[in-house]
Order: sequence, then C-alpha cells, then structure tokens
Amino acid sequence: MISAKKENPIGIFDSGIGGLTIANAIKKVLPNENIIYFGDTEHLPYGEKSNEAIKKFSNKIIDFLIAKQCKIIIIACNSAASVTEKELIKYKNIVPIYNVIDPVVQVIIDKYQNSKIGVIGTKATIGTNIYAKKIHELCGNIDVCCLATPLLAPMIEEGFISEDISQTIISNYLSHHKLKKINHLVLACTHYPLIEKEISNYFNKKVNIIDSSKITANYIYHEITAKNLLNKASQKKHHFYVSNYTHSFENSAKFFFEKAIKLEEVKLFNH
Ligand code: DGL
Repeated sequence: MISAKKENPIGIFDSGIGGLTIANAIKKVLPNENIIYFGDTEHLPYGEKSNEAIKKFSNKIIDFLIAKQCKIIIIACNSAASVTEKELIKYKNIVPIYNVIDPVVQVIIDKYQNSKIGVIGTKATIGTNIYAKKIHELCGNIDVCCLATPLLAPMIEEGFISEDISQTIISNYLSHHKLKKINHLVLACTHYPLIEKEISNYFNKKVNIIDSSKITANYIYHEITAKNLLNKASQKKHHFYVSNYTHSFENSAKFFFEKAIKLEEVKLFNH
C-alpha cells in the first residue's frame, strides 16, 4: 500500500451527479476531509453501457485519482461497482477502494432479516444480480426482488425530479409486480436519493427507503478512523472534475456544496 497522509484527499467518482449524494454525505460525516470528485459526464449513463466499457472507464478514473494521491477511493456508482468488483484486486496494494454496495448489504443483514427487500437500479447493476448474491451469501431468510429502472438516472441528470413526467415514470416502474408487498426498498443507484421523496410518496411512506449515502459515509468514517487516516486539519479543499463540462453539472455541484466550487474538465479518454 502506498503510504497515505491524513491530509490526502478522498477520491469519489460516478458517471455524473449521482455520486454527489455520497460526496455530500461524506462532507457532513467527515467535515475535515478534502474531496476529489470525478463525474464521467462524457460517458453517462453508465447503466446502459457494456460491462467492458464501464470497466475501461472506471480503471482510467481510478488511475487518475491515484495520481492525485487519494488516500482512499469510493466508487460512488452502483453500476461501476457491480461490474468492476473482480477487477479491483490489482489495486489491492496501492489504495483502498470502497463501494456503495457492501455497506448497504451489511445494514440489511444486521437489521432487516425475515423481510422482503426491493432493489431498483440501472440495467448494469441489476444485470449482475449483485445485491441478491451478496445478501444471500450471508443470509438466506431475506426475499430480494430486483428491478431495472433505466430511465430514472438520465431523467434526474436532466433535472426532471418533481414534474408530471417524472411522476409518471416513477409510478410506472414502482407499480411493477416484483415490488408488491416489499418492506424496504434499496436505492441501488446513487442518483436516486435525489427523488427519494417522490419514491417514498408513491408508497404512501409505508416502505422504508434505504439510501446508501449516509450508510456509506458512516462506514467510511469507521474505516478511515481504523486506518488512522482521519484528517484533523480544518483547512479543506474540494475539487470537482468532469470528463465533459456541462452547466447542469456545475449548477448541481454548487447546489450540493453551497459555495463556489472549482469545476475542471479533464480529458482522460483517448477514443
Ligand atoms: N449513479 C450510477 C449508479 O449508481 C449510474 C447512473 C448511470 O450513469 O447510469 O448506478
């Protein structure tokens, strides 16, 4: 493992704005940490890409974040995390890499045995069946029903959140028979916390919505503390990079971080 300093940043990436839900939770739980965020806006949506393409993009971004001396990296994207799982072994001695899936699976095992859990995510994530596999490896008495909801991430990225059209799309997906009688619903795409209220309202607030952002931030807090990497210095810097600059990304990032942010475009990919 390359020796990391406490002041080194935490690297976080996603295909677009979804991972900002994780970055925002990290900022609250770990207020002294420096964050480097990469949004691969050039290749969004990841959920519709082949596993090979997602692996290629993720490797490039991880290499970029390592070059920026990140002390840990969080794959704040379920689609990237589910298809790259086996690949990441090559970074084992370089940098600790975390995802947004394992912390959620752990909470489900600890708290929600004997229940029916719905999981919604992109085609890439649901195609791997990763949540059901991981949950059933550890516990047999949880019923897991997974449903791909591919229009949601692009809809959110375009800023359609509480319009009629978004309500129609949300209801259409959530009325699927697979989600009948669920007790809990995992938002297995980091874009979805941005429509958590609309999802919860669809179920008349009777289904417990599991949002990975706080769960992941708490998990990372414990990991960083255990590794003695907690930054105690109070001066922090956040950097936001995108592979393709868009105003909408800049506006969303500003909205989340409440003050002027430095948004830079970097060309990581040679096509
Ligand atoms: N936010 C991402 C996820 O968690 C991906 C959305 C997309 O690019 O399709 O799966």
